[in-house]
Amino acid sequence: MVCLYNNGYLSILLLLLAGLMVVANCGNFNQDFDLTWGENRAKIFGGGQLLSLSLDKVSGSGFQSKKEYLFGRIDMQLKLVAGNSAGTVTAYYLSSQGPTHDEIDFEFLGNVSGDPYILHTNVFTQGKGNREQQFYLWFDPTRNFHTYSVIWNSQNIVFLVDNTPIRVFKNSESVGVPYPKSQPMRIYSSLWNADDWATRGGLVKTDWSKAPFTAYYRNFLVQTGGSKFSNGAWQNQELDAYSRRRLRWVQKNFMIYNYCTDFKRFPQGFPLECTH
Ligand SMILES: *[C@@H]1O[C@H](CO)[C@@H](O)[C@H](O)[C@H]1NC(C)=O
Repeated sequence: MVCLYNNGYLSILLLLLAGLMVVANCGNFNQDFDLTWGENRAKIFGGGQLLSLSLDKVSGSGFQSKKEYLFGRIDMQLKLVAGNSAGTVTAYYLSSQGPTHDEIDFEFLGNVSGDPYILHTNVFTQGKGNREQQFYLWFDPTRNFHTYSVIWNSQNIVFLVDNTPIRVFKNSESVGVPYPKSQPMRIYSSLWNADDWATRGGLVKTDWSKAPFTAYYRNFLVQTGGSKFSNGAWQNQELDAYSRRRLRWVQKNFMIYNYCTDFKRFPQGFPLECTH
């Protein structure tokens, strides 16, 4: 399947032309997602090509995928709440269900106009999280759509922003850290008020005179290994040299919090995956 409505996906077409088989599911929000809460604050338009969530004083809103996925590459383009977005959180994540669920999180913490969003990430395995890493972005995420992706295979989980890896969670089962590999996950997103903690640790409150706050979504794309002929690049187990360089660039210049270096939080020693 080929997505031709946006040349961002031309690469898929090229892969197909190169004779590689890629199982790509190009998004139509009407077909692939349910609007789950917030009533008419969540909307799909443009014939299923565009989705928006909004937040006002009464409620936020959210949606979830109809399907569940076990491994794959998932891309979504988001344009975050513009202007004074302090106090708002736009969460975009994959999650399975139940007390021992797995979860892969992007959370965008808003800010007052001109001050930077924080991209907060976390990974839950078997119900346990506490693996936060936070980043500033190298662009204004409210001006244009940018692509936020997760590559999830049996060896690692890679978080990407505009195709640049920002975080890798490696499979560390060999040292006893559970890895998400058997519970399928749905894709979720929501926009809500979190002014008790989101912006400067809760110091800056949501300015309701600016409501409603709105975030936009488009160009959802899932590639899975659904076919035994599938040969998507997402299944490559390791990052190539260029991607490793990009990852180091992000971690050096834009990472603002890493649980793996937070001595105060782990006086008894870091979680096993940090030193593995
Ligand atoms: C908001 O801006 C302040 C001041 O620049 C900064 O310290 C903070 O990290 C920014 N982001 C959030 C979500 O608080």
